[in-house]
Amino acid sequence: MSDPMDKIDVKLMRAVRYHAFGEAEVLQVETIPIPQPKEGEVLIRILAAGVLPVDWKIRRGLFPMPVQFPYIPGTAFAGVVEAVGAGVSTWHIGDAVFGRSTKGTYAAYTTAPEDAIARKPASITYEEAATLSGGATTAWRAIVSEGQVKPNERVLIHGAAGGVGMFAVQFAKWIGAEVIGTAGPKNVSYVASLGADKVIDYSSERFEEIVQDVDFVLDTVSGDTLARTWSVLKQGGRLASIAGQPPLEKAKQHGITLIRPGIATKEDLKAIAELIEEGKLTIHIDQCFAMADARQAHEKSETGHGRGRIVLRMTD
Ligand SMILES: NC(=O)c1ccc[n+]([C@@H]2O[C@H](COP(=O)([O-])OP(=O)(O)OC[C@H]3O[C@@H](n4cnc5c(N)ncnc54)[C@H](OP(=O)(O)O)[C@@H]3O)[C@@H](O)[C@H]2O)c1
Repeated sequence: MSDPMDKIDVKLMRAVRYHAFGEAEVLQVETIPIPQPKEGEVLIRILAAGVLPVDWKIRRGLFPMPVQFPYIPGTAFAGVVEAVGAGVSTWHIGDAVFGRSTKGTYAAYTTAPEDAIARKPASITYEEAATLSGGATTAWRAIVSEGQVKPNERVLIHGAAGGVGMFAVQFAKWIGAEVIGTAGPKNVSYVASLGADKVIDYSSERFEEIVQDVDFVLDTVSGDTLARTWSVLKQGGRLASIAGQPPLEKAKQHGITLIRPGIATKEDLKAIAELIEEGKLTIHIDQCFAMADARQAHEKSETGHGRGRIVLRMTD
């Protein structure tokens, strides 16, 4: 029997999808129709997508959100505007952009609301721009918009070499804070190169024995690291934990304000892009994978170790 799709002029694309929760093997490349932008949305031809830890957490059914199968993973992308929906005047076909989509970004195309994207700085590649959403944006919300870190404050960043941490160190230094980062032995000199005043190797040193009176902590690690963090914070300090939910009671007991970074606004995206244009941010790509190798990209992310962000390239 012929496929009814043959008779309709539907434009097709390749996308990574899965049809049930599971290990990385559930990820497969399939051919599906290109989505159409609705009113207020743009259609993006994706050149690169960021691979975030949340992508494999969702794939394993560990993330508290409803999932409709088949599911296209990914939220972070960089690419080129291919078409605009009704009412969109900010963006034009051919604009180079980066941003966030909730429709899946491990694909040749996605749609996104016009406010969820920003112009890609000309000084960086599409692969580098794909690291910004869920990396720079999360760090910016935590350190700048919501954390309101101030000059000379003492800031501790757990997981300082990661996809969020690399930006958090640079934002806190840009503000003029004293920055201490934690990282594994392979990443100590890398975090120092980002500008950290001190880097603690978590494999051989206990940070709570080295740092005290901290004004602000960004915790991207959680677990035992979070449990040992309370004692280093000042009374009245702030804690942004993005990997787990710190207990409210514990925060009250230590006089700590909890911060939960929200979704970046278009102003946040623009501010980050401007810092990049001014040459004030460096971006590290851990490894670039072809779309067809999404399984390996997830397996690497699931190790919980690495430097910078893993990226999928759609053009391979
Ligand atoms: N809520 C949000 O908006 C949001 C957004 C993004 C991410 N997140 C969550 O935040 C967490 C981190 O995300 P990410 O994208 O930065 O992850 P990532 O890119 O995978 O980086 C993780 C980093 O943690 C470091 N690390 C591992 N164990 C550590 C320890 N005990 N102490 C200090 N550092 C340690 C690793 O460094 P070594 O290789 O040196 O060990 C690695 O560089 C994930 O759980 C993710 O889901 C939340």
